Amino acid sequence: MGVEEKLQKELRRELDDERYMHTLGVAYTASCLAMRYGETMERAFLAGLLHDCAKSKNMDHKKMLSLCEKHDIPVTQYEHDNPVLLHAKLGSFWAEEKYGVTDKEILSAIRWHTTGHAGMTLLEKIIYIADYIEPNRKKQPYLSDVRALCFHDLDGGLRRILHDTLYYLKEKKTVDPQTQETYEYYLAQVGTLDNDE
Ligand SMILES: [Fe+2]
Ligand SMILES: [Fe+2]
Repeated sequence: MGVEEKLQKELRRELDDERYMHTLGVAYTASCLAMRYGETMERAFLAGLLHDCAKSKNMDHKKMLSLCEKHDIPVTQYEHDNPVLLHAKLGSFWAEEKYGVTDKEILSAIRWHTTGHAGMTLLEKIIYIADYIEPNRKKQPYLSDVRALCFHDLDGGLRRILHDTLYYLKEKKTVDPQTQETYEYYLAQVGTLDNDE
């Protein structure tokens, strides 16, 4: 059995059915974006497979917080108040410690997949976007437009997803400062003529 097959079997055990289907959706969507934008397909697939590895069936918010403390993973106030966000940092840690990933760019794509950050790598953008547009996603607004945009203009798609995510968070009256910072950075990258937000 190949490494990837073994990993898929293990993730199938770790994750509930819905999370596992989402995981496969992200892995294949990330591979397609990699084909489109010139990233290595295998790296995108692996990062996609592992991006939610810390959302294990056996994990709860309390456990996430205590694992971060145990492994000296810094927790911001916002993450403390919204511990689900910690699955990104923990996932990156597990991808290395438990699943043996040594490729720093893959680890970093997992680390930043929920919020993004200023100056993202191509692989980071691909995983962030694939997480939002993969075929099992249904609830996000204007998904078919966003999906088409992401395959036409990667940064335009990224800005659109950041924008829509912030809009959703504002409606819930909770704004993630890291997502806000990422959005402002990418908004500042476009000139006013090109600004379609
Ligand atoms: Fe996630
Ligand atoms: Fe995800």
